[in-house]
Amino acid sequence: MTNPRKIKLLAIDDNPDNLQSLDGVIEDYLEDCELLTAASGKRGIELATREQPSVILLDIIMPVMDGFEVCKLLKEDERTASIPVILLTAMKADTENVIRGLEIGADAFFSKPIDPPELAAQIKVALRIKKSEDKLRGHKEELEELVYERTKKLLHLNKELERENLVRRKIEEMLRESEANLRELSLHQEQIREKERLSLARELHDELGQLITALKIDLVLVKDRLPADSIYLRGKIKNLLGLTEKVFESIRDISSQLRSEILENLGLVPAIENVVNEFRDRTAIECHLDLPEQVGECIGDKQISLYRIVQESLTNIARHARADEVSVSFHCSDSILELTVQDNGIGIPDEKINDKHSFGLLGMRERTLSMGGTMDITGIPGEGTTLRVEIPVDVAGKNASVS
Ligand SMILES: Nc1ncnc2c1ncn2[C@@H]1O[C@H](COP(=O)(O)OP(=O)(O)OP(=O)(O)O)[C@@H](O)[C@H]1O
Ligand SMILES: [Mg+2]
Repeated sequence: MTNPRKIKLLAIDDNPDNLQSLDGVIEDYLEDCELLTAASGKRGIELATREQPSVILLDIIMPVMDGFEVCKLLKEDERTASIPVILLTAMKADTENVIRGLEIGADAFFSKPIDPPELAAQIKVALRIKKSEDKLRGHKEELEELVYERTKKLLHLNKELERENLVRRKIEEMLRESEANLRELSLHQEQIREKERLSLARELHDELGQLITALKIDLVLVKDRLPADSIYLRGKIKNLLGLTEKVFESIRDISSQLRSEILENLGLVPAIENVVNEFRDRTAIECHLDLPEQVGECIGDKQISLYRIVQESLTNIARHARADEVSVSFHCSDSILELTVQDNGIGIPDEKINDKHSFGLLGMRERTLSMGGTMDITGIPGEGTTLRVEIPVDVAGKNASVS
């Protein structure tokens, strides 16, 4: 039985006398150690594997398996490779043997006859080296364990991240799809609204217009048949005729707000010119228009959207800007059509720009997006507001996106 509190040393020597004297040295000089002994290389390897001694004292000259071979086998086996081996020999410790021993993995070389204090000192050195090597190995294993754990965690996190990324990409894709659907829907609704405006304008003009005309004719007939002295009634009918004329004008105004005959018949350039002229007459605000002829060709089937944007921004200026000067300009390059509407009024407040209740602005933005373009509106307090719309057109000068 070995003593668990003592450090185990192993001596392998075929000579029992040598083993005994080694035991004596250990007892005398290294009291915290105990010596296990093996009388052959084979037995020594078995003991070393099982007992894991801290140092092995190994005789070189032994029958069957000599110390060099035993040392080689011990160093090749990972269970015993880290145990320091001190080779003991009665042979003359010539350089050749020392080199051979050290090359196969021995840690020290000791010549017999043994000098007990020197051997004990040598064993202590081997023990010290073993201890610090064990410590280092422990640290290394801890480190490896740590690296392994961290790598495992990182791999796990990586997988989670990949999963999250996948989900995010899917959601983004769905969002893009639903945005595109919404845009298409709003474009469709806008087209329906335009059609309704058109038919309402037609009905107003044709139906109501005819009724008013009939009313007017009848009023004139009645007036003609009244006796010349019915001054009171004649006056009343004259008033009524004036009123019907006013109603007629209102119908014309409303119906031209609802649809632009000029736009339908003559195209964007004359229609914008007409909107700007009407704005100038109605508001007395100085208004500059820069509208090159080629814009009409370059804008293709987007005219109604651009027309409505100009109409809405001028209405906004009349209602909110308190401006006395406005400029509307179009610029058409090979790939971009730019519309700028600028006023010198109070400046649109930032919070109004992104207010979800600013339906006029939202409508303009939606129209711009449906043309594949971008809209930007900025206001500087006391200096005015600038609206800039850019829409792509192709190199040939035709509009690039679908209406
Ligand atoms: N040119 C401008 N100068 C100063 N403020 C402006 C100008 N244009 C818009 N605004 C501000 O932005 C707000 C939002 O404009 P928007 O056109 O969306 O709505 P609105 O004109 O009030 O109503 P509507 O829905 O009838 O158009 C306006 O109420 C006004 O306060
Ligand atoms: Mg508005």
